[in-house]
Amino acid sequence: MKAVVDVAADKNKSKTPIKQEKIVTVGGGSLNGEVAISGAKNAVLPLMAAALLTEDECIINNAPCLDDVLVMLSVFKALDGRAEFDGHQLRLNSRGVEPRAVKPEILRQIRASNLILGPLLARFKEAEIGACGGCSIGSRPMDIHFAGMEALGAKILPLAGGYFAFARQLKGTDIYLKFPSVGATENLLMAAALSEGQTRLHNAAAEPEIEDLAAFINAMGGSISGAGTADIVIDGARKLHGVEYTVMPDRIETGTFLLAGALLGGKIRLLGARAADVQVQLSVLRQMGVEYQSMAGEITVQGGPLKAVRVETAPHPGFPTDLQPILAAVLCHAEGESIICEQIFENRFGYINELKKLGAAIQIRDNCAIIKGSKQNDWHGAKLAASDLRAGAALVLAALSAEGQSEITGVHYIDRGYEDLVGKLRRLGADIKRC
Ligand code: UD1
Repeated sequence: MKAVVDVAADKNKSKTPIKQEKIVTVGGGSLNGEVAISGAKNAVLPLMAAALLTEDECIINNAPCLDDVLVMLSVFKALDGRAEFDGHQLRLNSRGVEPRAVKPEILRQIRASNLILGPLLARFKEAEIGACGGCSIGSRPMDIHFAGMEALGAKILPLAGGYFAFARQLKGTDIYLKFPSVGATENLLMAAALSEGQTRLHNAAAEPEIEDLAAFINAMGGSISGAGTADIVIDGARKLHGVEYTVMPDRIETGTFLLAGALLGGKIRLLGARAADVQVQLSVLRQMGVEYQSMAGEITVQGGPLKAVRVETAPHPGFPTDLQPILAAVLCHAEGESIICEQIFENRFGYINELKKLGAAIQIRDNCAIIKGSKQNDWHGAKLAASDLRAGAALVLAALSAEGQSEITGVHYIDRGYEDLVGKLRRLGADIKRC
């Protein structure tokens, strides 16, 4: 996909119109062939924020063409950064950046907009952020981010609809995160990268995207070790320089296609997938009786009869919450009773009533979904509404597993985090289109 976005020319556009499109599927077929895994949404967004740490140009290759990336570009532009998005290459230059307030209607569109806090505070000693948005899957507070910034020496003042953070100087220290929040770990990595002295993060998030961010900052001249574990050590640099970097493959998209293959295969090859990042997903597939093979830079998965499993979501290396809805959709066709418990977000079962319209037998007890497996030919097409990004992908796969035609609205959620999901599924043989 080639998207050229001249962000400088796009200055006054702050609201993304909600797309009225829908996805139409005719289920019952199988998937076969090859699919290329895109660059990771959850890695590219923090890298874009980290580009604020330097006055030099940063080039990010393999950037996925996603609505969330376009929103992050609007944030960058609103701070007076210069940016180009050509094909899958992002060129970001923050020489002229000012730590000014970004309009709340831009910040509200994605939760990751809060990632400007760390780099702006580090470079300018002040930052203003709004109440950040994102998918409505839980309350998503910022207390862990703020506690860490305060430990580095910042003060955080609440404003109407946001926060103002400032510091005379940021000084490295030991910071214990009360929960391994991904966003807080990323914000603190970026703030500490330009702080004076050494910062040690304890109970940090260990997601592969944190490793990508640390590698990006190290390539800018930073000094971070231990990323990808719970203990990260950051030696603050005086200045960071520009970099050219290739973003990691998307492990959530990889997991989505692995589960799609398990549900609808056929046999599909995921090109560019990194098996090391999806070990827990592969182990769940194994328990479900799914056959797969992994080798350098690709994974092949083959569909077949599925067995019920019990899974709970957890911070990395546990089962990712972002794949919980998609796994649930697949387990609806596994033999026996499956249980999925959601441990990260409190409101992540919004899709279940939609799955029931197709024929799913699911009960919610506290934070767990109890799923009774049913045969695919007992399911029938339905009109479905996606309520968030991953729920949207779950509904698309579920609809493809049901006999007959389904329609899914809420396409704008899916476009936030999947690059051309419909095109990729269609090229694998699915009967699916946008209209
Ligand atoms: C990131 C991912 C998102 C994923 C999530 C968990 C990005 C852009 N998004 O989101 O796709 O679902 O990790 O893997 O990378 N929390 C607090 N206080 C805080 C921060 C978080 O209580 O200050 C809580 C949240 O309410 C939530 C949990 O911690 O219950 C996890 O949130 P966090 O890891 O911060 O997720 P995000 O970085 O927002």
